[in-house]
Amino acid sequence: MDFQLTEEQLAVQAAARDFAQTELWAGVIERDEHQKFPAEQIKKMGELGFLGMMVSPEYGGGGMDTVSYVLAMEEISKVDASCSVIMSVNNSLVCWGLEKYGTEEQKRKYLPRLTSGEIIGAFALSEPEAGSDATSQRTTAEDKGDYYLLNGTKNWITNGTTASVYLVVAQTNVELKHRGINVLIVEKGMEGFQTGPKENKLGIRGSDTCSLMFNDVKVPKENRIGEDGFGFKFAMQVLAGGRIGIAAQALGIASGSYELALKYSKERKAFGVPIAQHQAIQFKLADMATNIDAARLLCLQAAHDKDAHQDYAKSGAMAKLFASKTAMDASVEAVQIHGGYGFVKEYHVERLMRDAKITQIYEGTSEIQKIVISREILK
Ligand code: CAA
Repeated sequence: MDFQLTEEQLAVQAAARDFAQTELWAGVIERDEHQKFPAEQIKKMGELGFLGMMVSPEYGGGGMDTVSYVLAMEEISKVDASCSVIMSVNNSLVCWGLEKYGTEEQKRKYLPRLTSGEIIGAFALSEPEAGSDATSQRTTAEDKGDYYLLNGTKNWITNGTTASVYLVVAQTNVELKHRGINVLIVEKGMEGFQTGPKENKLGIRGSDTCSLMFNDVKVPKENRIGEDGFGFKFAMQVLAGGRIGIAAQALGIASGSYELALKYSKERKAFGVPIAQHQAIQFKLADMATNIDAARLLCLQAAHDKDAHQDYAKSGAMAKLFASKTAMDASVEAVQIHGGYGFVKEYHVERLMRDAKITQIYEGTSEIQKIVISREILK
């Protein structure tokens, strides 16, 4: 087994680390405090190739592998998990899905602008009554011949107000259940399409999340992705890959928390010595480091499986399940190690702790990951 990263992968990791430290660190507290969307930063991420990393250069992407994507996601998430969720949705859910299953016309129309950051994309599956239970879609896409008539509401949509292109999951034929679902490309500005107000969130406050409302939106037939009724499988496949990105986001939140806690514990003195010399702190650091290494190995395993065209539903779900718990645990311990300083914003760890929670909820809760894993084990 070869655990060495290639020169290209190391270069991507270094570039992402450099970008995160020089461009994201300075304003991250303010963006979190004011729920400010990182427009300038996302523009730069597009210019540097972080928004379409795995897309073929033919469509403006970086043509990179999933391992490189995981490495970049970790580095960016260490500093700003709001930027990394925007990056993850654009890369894993929107660009990957479009490149894999879109028509040539759809790819040429949207991918170059999505990969360059000129526009960003969103993926709309969740509804007021269909989150984990994804087959129970209430949004309808009625077949009207040369167009679909789209009606319904979507909830918790990342990039909701800022996206220009939305991949919307909707039911066309209720009798066929999940086999009657389609995914349509909806553009901002289509008549009858409105976005709701930004949600006021606990974490990842720089990213914008909102509801989408569709009221008799006419979506041309050529905007459907794949064959009629392919929508649910499309959504499941896209989410299986998306979970690797969110696992890497969680890994970054964990390792960012750990690095801050390690640095602080060498500087802060108590009882005459740096607190790192106390066993109570050493045990915490040892647990954090061990879990983070294990989470990283799971993320890289899932990324490797995807790059090797092997099934990655189970390894991706395992990576997300474990990395998101590690993010939660490590960020709570980082606050504890910082003591009172950990409870104030200037020290960053309280933000990482708030950001960690969503990684156990979106792109499938931890319970959903256990369903996916156990089904794969038992089948
Ligand atoms: N690849 C391809 N097909 C898949 C698949 C995969 N990974 N997983 C399931 N399918 C297919 C099945 O083969 C089946 O097809 P057939 O009936 O034709 O054989 C079909 O999908 C239905 O599968 P299930 O019977 O397993 O479906 P289910 O209703 O029992 O649910 C589930 C399975 C895993 C619970 C699924 O509903 C699920 O993943 N739910 C969570 C959804 C989710 O992640 N929501 C988060 C929203 S997105 C988000 O958060 C983005 C963001 O903004 C950050």
